[in-house]
Amino acid sequence: MSENVARLVDLAPETVSFRDAVLHGLSRTPKSIPPMYFYDEPGARLFEEICRLPEYYPTRAETAILKTNAADIAARIGPEAHLIEYGSGATEKVRPLLDALQDPVAYTPVDISAEQLAAAASDLAASYPDIEVTGIIADYSRPFTLPPPRRRPARTRAALFLGSTIGNFGPAEALAFLQQAARRLSDGGLLLIGADLRKDPNRLHAAYNDSAGVTARFNLNLLTRINRELDGNFDLAAFDHYAFYDPVPGRIEMHLVSRRTQRVSVAGKTFSFGEGESLHTENSYKFTVEGFRTLARRAGFTPEAVWLDDDNLFSLHLLRAT
Ligand SMILES: C[S@@+](CC[C@H](N)C(=O)[O-])C[C@H]1O[C@@H](n2cnc3c(N)ncnc32)[C@H](O)[C@@H]1O
Repeated sequence: MSENVARLVDLAPETVSFRDAVLHGLSRTPKSIPPMYFYDEPGARLFEEICRLPEYYPTRAETAILKTNAADIAARIGPEAHLIEYGSGATEKVRPLLDALQDPVAYTPVDISAEQLAAAASDLAASYPDIEVTGIIADYSRPFTLPPPRRRPARTRAALFLGSTIGNFGPAEALAFLQQAARRLSDGGLLLIGADLRKDPNRLHAAYNDSAGVTARFNLNLLTRINRELDGNFDLAAFDHYAFYDPVPGRIEMHLVSRRTQRVSVAGKTFSFGEGESLHTENSYKFTVEGFRTLARRAGFTPEAVWLDDDNLFSLHLLRAT
């Protein structure tokens, strides 16, 4: 039997937009750059390191939920499914589900992080010889064409959006993303989506301020990427990682704060930072189970099931597109 090889489809999401997003983000007040630009190759590796940190509970909690409930989730999805995963990252979490599903047809991971996607898709294809694996390099917040399986048709479609990545969107963007997903799955398809829960702010604070400083390196890597790809001259020692939880909107905010007054050049343009001025790099919204279900209903989904981990830290929702 010939080896199962992953196919890669590059929708070239980033060629112009990284430069545009950075120049635009540094020109506005307050300065901000969207979090999707964290995930160049070193950024993706640093995120994998974050997932193993003792303070970063979301990965362990969501993985435990998936493993404990894989048979139930697989039964609800049904046989001969096509799985699509938005923001698939290292693609480790899908494995217990692929193991539990009856005769899955295809797996289509979609991610902006091209190198990590290529490596992860190829590993998955090697581990699952009967599953057609097609990696799509795309920005999932924009419309893109999702190719149907080529080898054999699927009976159902289920999308995955794990890691509470939905929390990186603001409320309006989260609604727009879910509406787009509901349209894509409008033939009665399912969405399995992880949502981190509101909890003790100290626990949240620790998760984004780990003692080994990995989250700080992940945040600062954005400046390294700008220096390398956009001919920037950020001095990394002149910026501090700053992350805090605001319980009113229910979100972690992550910033890079300038330690002094300074000028920085990027792609031939100069930007000024005052002492203590912030470059806002990420939001991570936290949810209540009912709040998330309300959002899902507004977007055109019917909540079918929700599972929590033993410590009630994280929620995994199964939604049906209506
Ligand atoms: C928080 S990580 C989660 C990774 C994995 N799903 C997990 O649960 O561990 C977010 C992932 O989404 C990808 N990503 C972020 N924004 C994206 C976008 N707009 N389009 C495509 N991929 C994106 C990143 O490259 C990264 O792999």
